[in-house]
Amino acid sequence: MSKPLSPIDTAKFVAAKRACDYVKSGMRLGLGTGSTAAWLVRCLGEMVREDGLKITGVPTSTRTAEMARQAGIDVVSLDEAKWLDLTIDGADEFDGELNLIKGGGGALLQEKIVATASDQMIVIADKTKQVETLGAFPLPIEVVPFGWQTTKALVEETLSSLDVLGDSSTIRMNGESPFVTDEGNFILDLHLGRIGNARQFAMVINQIPGVVENGLFIDICDIVIIGNGDGRVEVKDINEGTTEESVVDFLETDNVFSDLAD
Ligand code: A5P
Repeated sequence: MSKPLSPIDTAKFVAAKRACDYVKSGMRLGLGTGSTAAWLVRCLGEMVREDGLKITGVPTSTRTAEMARQAGIDVVSLDEAKWLDLTIDGADEFDGELNLIKGGGGALLQEKIVATASDQMIVIADKTKQVETLGAFPLPIEVVPFGWQTTKALVEETLSSLDVLGDSSTIRMNGESPFVTDEGNFILDLHLGRIGNARQFAMVINQIPGVVENGLFIDICDIVIIGNGDGRVEVKDINEGTTEESVVDFLETDNVFSDLAD
C-alpha cells in the first residue's frame, strides 16, 4: 500500500497539476528540470496516456528527456520545435516581479534558452521559493572549464562593485570532480546573500569572458503557480496583475504517484 505524499511533495504536485490546465493538445511545450518539474512530467504523461493529450515536449536536460520519454511524451529538440507555446519549470527563488533564480539542478543554460524561446513561461513552486529580494539561494552561473579558476577570481572581483552582500563563490562538485553540465561546462555558486539590482547584476556578470550564462531569469516568467501542502494553489500572473486561489483535489492521485516521490 502506498504511503501519503509529504506536505512538500503535495505542494509541488498540486502546483504541477494546476499548471496542466494551461496545456492544450497540439502544444509545443518546454519541460523544466528538477523535483517540481518532475511532477509536471508525471502529470502530463498521465494525460497523454489516459486522455489522449497530444503534445511535443522539449526537455531542458538529459534527466528530463529520459523521464518524459518514459512517461510516453513525444520528445524533440528545440531546433526541431523551433518555437514553443509554453514552458513550465521550477525555480529556486522568485520575487514579487516574478524574477527568478534558477540552476540549483545545474540545468540553467538549457532552461534559459528554452524559456526564452517560448510564448509564455509558467513557474511551479512551493511557498518556500517565494522571497522579498533574490539572493539568499546561491546564484549558479555556468562557466567554461578552460581557465575556470581565473574566471572565478574575476567573478569575485566583480562582485565587490555590485550591490550584493557576499563576494565568495564555490565550484559545484560531483564527488571528487567538478559537476559537469549537459553542455560540458562547470557551475560556480555565488554566495551573495542579497542581490540589490538583479537586472544590472545579470548584465554585468555575463560580460566576463568564461561566463556562459547566469541563473537570473529577468522578465522571462509570466505566471507563478504556488502550491501548498493542503492542496491550495495561488496563481500569480504578472501581465494581468492578478492573483487567484483555488484548491486542487490531490487525494486520489496522491496514491497513484506516492511511490515516485523523491
Ligand atoms: C534546475 O537547474 C533548476 O533550475 C530547477 O528548476 C530549480 O532548481 C528548482 O528545482 P526543484 O523543483 O527541485 O526545487
